[in-house]
Amino acid sequence: MEPAAVILSGGPASVYAEDAPSMDPAIFDLGLPILGFCYGEQIMAATLGGSVAHTEKGEYGPATLTRHGESQLLEGTPSDEQTVWMSHRDAVDRLPEGFTLTASTETCPIAAYENPERRLFATQFHPEVNHTAYGQTMLSNFLFKICGLEPNWTMDNLIEAKVAEIREHIGSDKVILALSGGVDSAVTAALVHRAVGDQLTCVFVNHGMLRKGEPESVEQVFAHEFDIPLVHVHAEERYARLLAGVTDPEKKRRIIGREFWKVFFEEAQKLDGVKYLAQGTIYPDIIESGARKTGGKASTIKSHHNLIPFPEGVRFDLVEPLDHFFKDEVRALGSALGLPDSMVYRQPFPGPGLAIRIIGEITDEKLTTLKDADFIVREELDAYNQRLFEQTGKRNSEHACWQYFAVLPSIRSVGVMGDERTYGHTIILRAVESTDAMTADWAKLPYDVLSKISSRVVSEVEGINRVVYDITPKPPATIEWE
Ligand code: XMP
Repeated sequence: MEPAAVILSGGPASVYAEDAPSMDPAIFDLGLPILGFCYGEQIMAATLGGSVAHTEKGEYGPATLTRHGESQLLEGTPSDEQTVWMSHRDAVDRLPEGFTLTASTETCPIAAYENPERRLFATQFHPEVNHTAYGQTMLSNFLFKICGLEPNWTMDNLIEAKVAEIREHIGSDKVILALSGGVDSAVTAALVHRAVGDQLTCVFVNHGMLRKGEPESVEQVFAHEFDIPLVHVHAEERYARLLAGVTDPEKKRRIIGREFWKVFFEEAQKLDGVKYLAQGTIYPDIIESGARKTGGKASTIKSHHNLIPFPEGVRFDLVEPLDHFFKDEVRALGSALGLPDSMVYRQPFPGPGLAIRIIGEITDEKLTTLKDADFIVREELDAYNQRLFEQTGKRNSEHACWQYFAVLPSIRSVGVMGDERTYGHTIILRAVESTDAMTADWAKLPYDVLSKISSRVVSEVEGINRVVYDITPKPPATIEWE
């Protein structure tokens, strides 16, 4: 394979566990530059004669890193303190011979170490996530200065390569795509359409748990503005029957995913001669769904809708042109393909939709309540983001919200409205800053924005007497509640 370098990524295992991924020590003697972070940092130490131990308390989220002396990897980052993102319970407690300690945090005395002569570098924190303030500088140091590579991953290069790849893959055959209205399937549709034109048909399964106004806008954009053949399937009642009484989050996801494919394939089989199925699977779906393309070593955090298998007897070949892209790259690709901003900057939305934002049983009444509250949240935070965009010229500027929505928990509380006691429902506001959904921090929204959302939700949405704000980063929480 002639690799130019090796990056040892993070992972959920403990290096000394029986089934933990291990490394042939000879890899470190190949003379290749190697960067290990998190699990990769620990396996490097354990393999080369250092050691790893459980820490008394874990370290999750932002941490303050202090540098010690010279470091090729950390060059160009502040020499005193900087913020890095941690997510670990184990840590290296003894360095292998020949290595120098280059940074620590209060909880983690060995947070970065290196052996520049052997071109081996390691960090306990995650340089690849956006919340590590100088992570990009560190990765640039590694790739361009230490390894001497060229930065040639540009959107124009990628579109050209992807279009050629899709044309070659699909030939003159027909392809279908399940459109959800979200960024991933929209960009996939635009890319596949650019490659094979009207050989593509989009199928939109409406399960009734989309946001207010969304089914209408999907039709408007794809059928009318983009002129792509679109089948809109109304499956709202079918879903309501299946989900009645179901409260377990994974069961909801399974039912919705399975039924989605049933409905989808019923439609697909009405179309003649379709050979391919294009999907908007992106890289975080694959990582977080664990087993499939990562070779079984990533831990299953949630079973993602995108990866539900085919039903028995149905065969389409998959086309997944975005499966190596992170969300921010998918947006850049969408813009470069000429998709409108409203679509490219549309928030990510989970396949199971509002079903996983209603904690407990889903009813028509709860769906209406959540749709109405969510509409207000989006209206206010769209306006807030627009104000920030006008001030900074940047879409994902500091403090802009990346994803925001309402959650309806299954609790009631006492309130007072118009001198009357109420016993109403609560709306949870979730708003996060992120670039790729792998990590996120809660958005530091101004009080007046929070206050307006709260007063509009309680006065405009029937049955709600309380609004609370979720102030947990990911990790340890996930962005969604189920
Ligand atoms: P979590 O909750 O895991 O979510 O932090 C990360 C991102 O993924 C979205 N999400 C999903 N997207 N199918 C999807 O296509 C799903 O089942 C699903 N669950 C979560 C979530 O909205 C966030 O942007």
